[in-house]
Amino acid sequence: MAYFQQKYGMTATHSAVVAAMDTVKPCKAIDLGCGQGRNALFLALKGFDVTASDYNPSGMRVIEDIAEAEDLAIRTETYDMNVAAIGENYDFMVATVVFMFLMKERVPSIIANMQERTNPGGYNLIVSAMDTADYPCHMPFSFTFKENELKNYYAGWTLIDYKEEIGSMHARDANGNPIQLRFVTMLAQKPMS
Ligand SMILES: C[S@@+](CC[C@H](N)C(=O)[O-])C[C@H]1O[C@@H](n2cnc3c(N)ncnc32)[C@H](O)[C@@H]1O
Repeated sequence: MAYFQQKYGMTATHSAVVAAMDTVKPCKAIDLGCGQGRNALFLALKGFDVTASDYNPSGMRVIEDIAEAEDLAIRTETYDMNVAAIGENYDFMVATVVFMFLMKERVPSIIANMQERTNPGGYNLIVSAMDTADYPCHMPFSFTFKENELKNYYAGWTLIDYKEEIGSMHARDANGNPIQLRFVTMLAQKPMS
């Protein structure tokens, strides 16, 4: 988990991706909205065949350079999730801290496309900000999940992990306190048939 952090100064792998390793074994994976690649590089180091995907190509060069230096199996692609047209099937799809930047009206199609493009028995891991009655979201996110909303999208899948927990943003409120929100974390497995 700390390898790329220490060697290349990267942000630590998202804890949900690390936790998913108890369940998901090396397979064909895509990191959607990969940013600087902290999750994609970690998965490649763990033996996954990884596509690192983001609509902003600025992180791709760094990922490609590290992948080459470390002899890791990572492809990079520029892809806008709002298009909802993932081009091939994967066993494991990861989207951490990305859905809150997507177009609200596109979310149903984006999730349907992810589900369709996941192989039977494969997994989706999503972490995103919520807007709930107890923790209303005042951040300028384009999309937030409501209570149980993500779980309902995945009806029929096996929920390996599902929690809607309070987390702190780096941003602070008028009193200088970190803004708190609920975040949904879901690891779900698609039925075999
Ligand atoms: C907060 S960063 C998270 C990056 C990475 N998932 C992580 O956990 O380190 C959000 C990422 O979502 C990407 N993103 C935002 N909108 C997107 C879209 N429509 N399609 C693909 N990526 C998008 C941004 O470019 C950015 O890299």
